[in-house]
Amino acid sequence: MNVQKIRNGLVIDHIRAGTGPRIFNWLKLDRAPFSVALIMNVPSGQLGKKDIIKIDNVIDIDYSVLGFIDPNITVNVVEDEHVSRKITLNLPERVENVIRCRNPRCITSAEPGIPHVFRLVDRKRAEYSCEYCDELYRAGIGEFL
Ligand code: CTP
Ligand code: ZN
Repeated sequence: MNVQKIRNGLVIDHIRAGTGPRIFNWLKLDRAPFSVALIMNVPSGQLGKKDIIKIDNVIDIDYSVLGFIDPNITVNVVEDEHVSRKITLNLPERVENVIRCRNPRCITSAEPGIPHVFRLVDRKRAEYSCEYCDELYRAGIGEFL
């Protein structure tokens, strides 16, 4: 499938197939006044299939949250139609208000307004634990806020 090159902006590449729409919504690109493209199930040597998001505008992205969603993503910064920088991501040590603790006995379930903080405990297994009750959460699957 052919999608035009962008002029100035970001190409979010190597997204795990199927995750593109969630990132698209998280970045609120459905309301963008500039050109955006969500391309799904593109054949890729590395992953078999991947999703790509092209954004013809320079926008702010929280790279630690994006790395939590999918650490294998590459963000290409495009300036004057050329890739000027490739940003690689990784799993952040800590995420706040990105996922919710599912333990009904956790203080974050009982009291609203307490930030949901998770810390990386096993990078290989992409495992995070709740700061308050140690409930485990695997990154890359399931929902985020
Ligand atoms: N791209 C784009 N518009 C541009 C330049 C690049 O949409 N003006 C897109 C390309 O289509 C590609 C991505 O940005 O999807 C990365 O471009 P490039 O670095 O040229 O491709 P690769 O070398 O294949 O990237 P990688 O090695 O990271 O897979
Ligand atoms: Zn908890």
